[in-house]
Amino acid sequence: MKDLDRLALPGTPERDFLDQVDPSSLPRHVAIIMDGNGRWAQGRGLPRVEGHRAGIHAVREAVEGAARLELEALTLYAFSTENWKRPRWEIRALMALLKEYLQKELSALVDNNIRFRPIGRIHELEEDIQRGLERAVAATASNTGLLFQIALNYSGRAELVDLGRRIAEWAAAGALSPREIDEQWVAAHLETAGCPDPDLLIRTSGELRVSNFLLWQIAYTELYITPVLWPDFTALHLVRAVADFVRRERRFGGVVEPSPGNAEDELEET
Ligand code: FPP
Repeated sequence: MKDLDRLALPGTPERDFLDQVDPSSLPRHVAIIMDGNGRWAQGRGLPRVEGHRAGIHAVREAVEGAARLELEALTLYAFSTENWKRPRWEIRALMALLKEYLQKELSALVDNNIRFRPIGRIHELEEDIQRGLERAVAATASNTGLLFQIALNYSGRAELVDLGRRIAEWAAAGALSPREIDEQWVAAHLETAGCPDPDLLIRTSGELRVSNFLLWQIAYTELYITPVLWPDFTALHLVRAVADFVRRERRFGGVVEPSPGNAEDELEET
């Protein structure tokens, strides 16, 4: 882990955690549903767009925090296929913020060895956003540190529908037989191909929903819901979520093996 002082100050419980934790117990992939921008703005008597603008700071905190924790991957849900139902002015503002983010942050992504990958129906976004995304992908393609996936015009169902269509096309062309398809094959043909499933899914603003995010990939993901509104989210909150994750016992549908002579350790299958 790098720059621990930038993650948590010495003498705090979060820093004690970072000093003592076995790095191999950290999540490899953290996904975040960034929620609460509107309520953050409303609480300050500001237009909703100001909440989104303030949310950019939290994006930076999460990306830099994940890079310092040396996680393998971070996926942020920035714009869902359902978000097109929002007022036109809000969509325009979100797209303008995205463009601004790509222009301003690209050099930081390059300098921090972060590899950028957009996921979602990118071809449906405005041309200049698509170009900005392509530039960011190309500029960071040879980076070897954190994989930063940003979900744009994304939903888990849309991703599965798109794969279903491709499967039908390949099958119709005689290029795919049913026996080739298993869980590994599906995972390798989703947009997140090559990235491990999220170990931890964080949702801000206290809502208890997964909102169509990474539906296939989160089958066994641990959920962490925080009341913090997204614009207030910092690297310290990421550390707290990770500390909570490390205490969890993951069973992936199995059982914890009882230690000899201690049958009480056995847990119910879930
Ligand atoms: C949810 O808050 C947030 C979004 C739909 C957009 C997330 C966007 C950002 C954090 C800023 C842009 C990001 C990048 C990377 C440029 P909400 O509006 O649903 O909040 P509410 O539930 O309080 O109304």
